[in-house]
Amino acid sequence: MEIRRATPEDLPQLVELENCCFPDPWSQKSLRSTMTEEDSYFAVAIIDGKIVGYINTTYVLDEMNLNRICVLPQYRKMGAAGSLMEGMFAHARQQGLAQIFLEVRLSNLEAQRVYQRFGFKVVGERKGFYQNPPENGLVMTAQVANE
Ligand SMILES: CC(C)(COP(=O)(O)OP(=O)(O)OC[C@H]1O[C@@H](n2cnc3c(N)ncnc32)[C@H](O)[C@@H]1OP(=O)(O)O)[C@@H](O)C(=O)NCCC(=O)NCCS
Repeated sequence: MEIRRATPEDLPQLVELENCCFPDPWSQKSLRSTMTEEDSYFAVAIIDGKIVGYINTTYVLDEMNLNRICVLPQYRKMGAAGSLMEGMFAHARQQGLAQIFLEVRLSNLEAQRVYQRFGFKVVGERKGFYQNPPENGLVMTAQVANE
C-alpha cells in the first residue's frame, strides 16, 4: 500500500469514493477547494495502482480538523485508514500543530474504533449535527505529540 498526497488529477476518483462511502457526498468543487488550500493535508491510499481511500484535513493556527476519511468497502480492515491517519499525524507534527479535532456519527462505531486507536477521546456531543439521516455527532480530539 502506498500513501501519497492527493493531486487535482485524483478528483474524479475521490468523487467516486465520496459517492460510495457517504450518504452526503462532497462535490468535486468542495473537494478541489479544500485540496488547494495551503493549510490542508489531503492524501490517498493506493493498492495495485487504485485509489482505495483518502483523508481530508484542514488546519487553522495549531488546530487541525479531520474532515473526512474513507476506504472503499472491499478494501477495509487492511489498515488503509490506519496508514492514512499515520500520514496525517506525521504532517501535523511537521507543521508543529498541537491538536486534531473531528466529528463522528454516534452510530459509526467502526470509525470510532480507528480514532480511539490513535488516541482520540470524546470531548463533547453535538445534537442534530448530521442530516440525512439526522443524528448527533461526537466531538473527539487527540494531542499531537511534538518532540
Ligand atoms: C472508518 C473507515 C475509514 C475504516 O477504514 P479501514 O481501512 O477499514 O480501517 P483499518 O483497516 O485501519 O482498521 C479497521 C479494523 O481493521 C483492523 N485491521 C487493520 N489491518 C488489518 C489486517 N491486515 N488484517 C486484519 N485486520 C486488520 C484494525 O485493527 C481495525 O480493527 P478494529 O475495528 O477492531 O479496531 C471505513 O470503515 C470507512 O470508510 N467507513 C465509511 C466512511 C466513514 O464512516 N468515515 C468516517 C467518518 S468521516
